[in-house]
Amino acid sequence: MKHLLAPSLLSADFSRLAEDIQLVNQSKADWFHIDIMDGNFVPNISFGFPVLKAIQKYAQKPLDMHLMILDPDRYIPMFRDYGADTITVHYEACPHLHRTIQLIKSTGAKAGVALNPHTPAEVLSDIICDLDMVLIMSVNPGFGGQKFIPHSIEKIARTANIIKASPGSASIEVDGGIDLSNYKKVVDAGAEIIVAGNAVFAAVDPLQAIIGLKA
Ligand code: DX5
Ligand code: ZN
Repeated sequence: MKHLLAPSLLSADFSRLAEDIQLVNQSKADWFHIDIMDGNFVPNISFGFPVLKAIQKYAQKPLDMHLMILDPDRYIPMFRDYGADTITVHYEACPHLHRTIQLIKSTGAKAGVALNPHTPAEVLSDIICDLDMVLIMSVNPGFGGQKFIPHSIEKIARTANIIKASPGSASIEVDGGIDLSNYKKVVDAGAEIIVAGNAVFAAVDPLQAIIGLKA
């Protein structure tokens, strides 16, 4: 199966955000990956609803929102209102994950769960059949431009086996440190959606980088 590519707008140039969004619109990329950070769950703050409004105005591809925030239930309906097609919450931030997943689905968005590098894939075995997506973090969340953690490859393969053994059909997304040197390994291990921030927006030619990461 051909994998999907979701460029992360965290690495875009915010002084010319509309142009970077147009670049993705006109490219072979599939989704916009949108990183929301609250300064509590992760040691960084990214952007909030006013910026999402601008993204929603220009983006012509699905919006894949990755919530790195505590207590996401408070804002899930708002993220949907701001155009989210997929809403992914962190396992580590949700004590009542089943309820949170049902809330996401009740808005009409697809529901994903992200796992930090230290969180075993096996913790999802009793919720996997309710999920549309599992997001394997291949860096510690909070910043773009970090180095890919090699152990993630083995974890992607294990996650694929857990999904296969379940009645559900969740897809696997992988996020962090993915570039032209490692994306094939990630896809071969079972990733169906790959996120790339720096590898796209810090490239000399972002459109070429997108073509490369889709090859
Ligand atoms: C990290 C974010 C990632 C990040 C990816 O917390 O979730 O989506 O923007 O950026 P790169 O591809 O540069 O690691
Ligand atoms: Zn992300």
